[in-house]
Amino acid sequence: KKKVILDVDTGIDDALGILLAIRCGQLDILGITTVNGNVSLDQATVNTCKILQLAGVEQEIPVVRGADKPLMRTSYFEHRVHGQDGLGGALSEMPVLKTVQEGHATDFIIEQVRRQPGEVTLIMTAPLTNLALAVMKYPALVHEVKEVIVMGGVVASFGNVTPTAEYNIYVDPEAAKIVLQAGFPSLTLVGLDVTRKALLTEEHIQSLGDTPISRYVQESTADYMKRYYERYGVRACALHDPLAVGVAIDRTLVTTKHYYVDVETKSELCDGQTVCDFQNRLSREPNVHVCLEVRADEFLQLFTRALRA
Ligand code: BDR
Ligand code: CA
Repeated sequence: KKKVILDVDTGIDDALGILLAIRCGQLDILGITTVNGNVSLDQATVNTCKILQLAGVEQEIPVVRGADKPLMRTSYFEHRVHGQDGLGGALSEMPVLKTVQEGHATDFIIEQVRRQPGEVTLIMTAPLTNLALAVMKYPALVHEVKEVIVMGGVVASFGNVTPTAEYNIYVDPEAAKIVLQAGFPSLTLVGLDVTRKALLTEEHIQSLGDTPISRYVQESTADYMKRYYERYGVRACALHDPLAVGVAIDRTLVTTKHYYVDVETKSELCDGQTVCDFQNRLSREPNVHVCLEVRADEFLQLFTRALRA
């Protein structure tokens, strides 16, 4: 099994990504680190613990808290999308029984990678604050992780917070810049270009049968789907974060190209934009495997099969 650490700001789609990672049977989850993002660090941590409890794996998978704010900016919560609690109101009655592991996410990531160099894949589905801190604290990390898969950015389409920026990059662009420029030999950007095509529909949810997990998926995505419908006129919602997990499970789900990508951090209008040098105008070495196409049906099959199992 592939050894992974998930870094999350557990909102609705992070939760679905965590469930996919648990249920696919192909990943060995060393731990889940949390960060400020969609909701506060505390809320993201509570939500993560609840999802592990829902899946019955709270004893097996450690949860470690990370950064409670972006490197240089103030928080920018996404309650409009994920609801006040981050899970669209689902699991509100569930008590949190799981206790988090002592220590900071940054140290957890560093320790795990050092213990098994070349073996750990980092799946990042949140602002990149924790990983930026880890790289600054222990620069050799870059050469000791197996690969980094980031849900974030958009290169050939529009943003979802500002006209040009995707949420995870927008919230902590300085951190994103550090991560992209760190020199990771294998860094894959699973951006909105592809995640917008990974659409979960009501039919998919119905196909999950009637289990605590399917009822949770239904409840947590109800408003999320409604908002998607209001904007795009389609009854569905994008599985941004689960697709990053999907890429960790099966790389052939996406087509990537190796490009130089940088993050804008000094523009009033375009902060958080991921600028992809498609034509190598800057003559820089490529640093990012950019996802340009996705086999969405295959991914949705993988997702529904795992959650049904
Ligand atoms: C990303 O932003 C967050 O709101 C989601 O959880 C996902 O990680 C999509 O842009
Ligand atoms: Ca997320």
